[in-house]
Amino acid sequence: MPVTTLEDLLVEQVRDLYDAEKQLVRALPKMAGAANSEDLQQAIQDHLEETKNQVSRLERVFQELDKPAKGKACKAMRGLVEEGAEALEGDSPLTDLEIIAAAQRVEHYEISAYGTARAIAQQLGQDTIVSLLEETEEEEKAADTKLTDIAAELMGQVENVGESEEEEEASRPARKSTQSGTGSSRKAARG
Ligand SMILES: [Fe+2]
Repeated sequence: MPVTTLEDLLVEQVRDLYDAEKQLVRALPKMAGAANSEDLQQAIQDHLEETKNQVSRLERVFQELDKPAKGKACKAMRGLVEEGAEALEGDSPLTDLEIIAAAQRVEHYEISAYGTARAIAQQLGQDTIVSLLEETEEEEKAADTKLTDIAAELMGQVENVGESEEEEEASRPARKSTQSGTGSSRKAARG
C-alpha cells in the first residue's frame, strides 16, 4: 500500500506492530521455558499474557481505522527473536542475563514503535487510538523496568563469583603458583 497520507502511515506502523506482537506470542513461551530464575520465568510469563492482550488492542485500533487487521512482516522483530533464540541454552545467571539482554532489545523496539504510532494518532486527533497505544506503551515500559530489576539481582550473583576469584588471585604470590592452595603458598612465601 503506497503511503500518501498520515493515516496510511499510521496503518503501516500498526501493521508492523501487529506482526511484531504476534511473533512475540510465539517466542515468549520459549524464552520463559529457558529462563532459570523463577522471577524471570514469571516476568516473561506475565508479559506473554499482556502481549496477547496487546494483539487484541491492535485489532481494536484496526477497527477504529476501519481497516482489516492484517500484519506486515516485521523483519526487525524477526531478527531480534532470532538473536534471542541464541541465548536460550545454558543454566547459569549469565544465561538469564543473555535472555534479558534480548528481551530488553525487544521491549525498547516496541516502546519506540508505539511511541511513533501514538504521535501520528495524536496528530490525526484519533483519541481512542492514542489511549489504546498508550496503554500498551506503558505495559512495555513496565516490563522493561521489571527486567532491569531482575538483571540487577542476577548481576549481583555473578559479581560475587567474580569477586571471590579475584580475592584468591590477589592472595597468591606473584610467582607461578602451585596447586597446593593459598594457605600453603603463604607459608612458603613466609619461609
Ligand atoms: Fe508488546
